[in-house]
Amino acid sequence: MTLPQKRKPPTPTSHEPDLTKEWSDDHLLCHCTNTSKGTILSHMAKCHRDPDRIADKTGASTKCGTCRAYLEELCAIAPQPLPAKKLKKCLLIIALIIACIGLALLLKGIA
Ligand code: FES
Repeated sequence: MTLPQKRKPPTPTSHEPDLTKEWSDDHLLCHCTNTSKGTILSHMAKCHRDPDRIADKTGASTKCGTCRAYLEELCAIAPQPLPAKKLKKCLLIIALIIACIGLALLLKGIA
């Protein structure tokens, strides 16, 4: 009886920059833990952009380590979510602009 051979992911080289960008969300990033790119991205959306935190949460890159470079690349190139503090500031500015426009329209209507 022969056991199924584990497929090893290719190791990234300097000739393949941003390789993970081209992967679909169901592409397996970590073959040891069956962790897909989509799983990594969903954890990154929860503000875990640190490869070590993502490794802790998903198990990716915690076995043979072959996929570590891909995990780090994905953390480095994926778009940054807008931090909550900046988002609140943007919403406050938009609310102020709307209030000013409303006040100007109101004053114009009175005059
Ligand atoms: S491929 Fe082995 S730890 Fe990810």
